Amino acid sequence: MSKINWRPGTMINPLPAVLVTCGDGPENWNMLTVAWTGTICSDPAMCYVSVRPERFSHPLLMKYMEFTINLTTVDMARATDWAGVRSGRDYDKWKETGLTPIPGVKVSSPTIEESPVSIECKVKEVIHLGSHDMFMADVLNVRADDRYLDPETGAFSFEKANLLAYEHGFYRQLGPIIGKFGFSVKKK
Ligand SMILES: Cc1cc2nc3c(=O)[nH]c(=O)nc-3n(C[C@H](O)[C@H](O)[C@H](O)COP(=O)(O)O)c2cc1C
Repeated sequence: MSKINWRPGTMINPLPAVLVTCGDGPENWNMLTVAWTGTICSDPAMCYVSVRPERFSHPLLMKYMEFTINLTTVDMARATDWAGVRSGRDYDKWKETGLTPIPGVKVSSPTIEESPVSIECKVKEVIHLGSHDMFMADVLNVRADDRYLDPETGAFSFEKANLLAYEHGFYRQLGPIIGKFGFSVKKK
C-alpha cells in the first residue's frame, strides 16, 4: 500500500448540506445551500457557516447578524441542490423550491417548515478567511419537528428523518446504524 499526496484542499467528507435562511422579514427572506458548516462548541452551543462575500445572502447575514441552519432530508434533496445553484438575486427560492418559510422564534430569519431540525443562530464574530467569511454564532434555539418524536420516550429520531449527506459533489442517503456512542468499550 502507498499513499499519494494531493495539494491542500477541502477534503473533509461526508458533510451535511444544510439550508441556511437569512433576512428579517417575508419580503427579504432568502435561503442558500451550505456545506461549510459545523459545531464549534458544546457549552455554550455554537456553530458556524462559511459564506462567500459574492453570495446574495452575504449582505443579509452581515446586516441582520442572524441565520437559521435547517437540516435537510432525502426528500428535500432536489430543493437543496436548487437553492445552491440559483441565487435569490434572480429568483424567489420559496416559490421555486416549494419550501415553506415560517417565522423564527428567537431570530428574524425563517424556519423551513419541511426541515426536521432548525437551529436558530446569532452571529458573534465574522472572520474573513479568504474565499469565505466564517460566521461564528451562538445557538439561541433549536426547533424540532414533532413528527420524529417517539411518543413514549420523547426521543427525537434522526434515523426516521432520513437526513441528507454531501460527499464531494454528490448527495447521499445515510446507511444503517452500525454502532452507538461508546459501543467499542461496552462490556458484553
Ligand atoms: C451542496 C452545496 C454546498 C454549498 N456550500 C456552500 C458554502 O458552504 N458556502 C457558500 O458560500 N456557498 C455554498 N454553496 C453555493 C451557494 O449555495 C450558491 O452560490 C447559492 O446560489 C447562493 O445563493 P444566494 O446568491 O441566494 O445567496 C453550495 C452549493 C451547493 C449546491
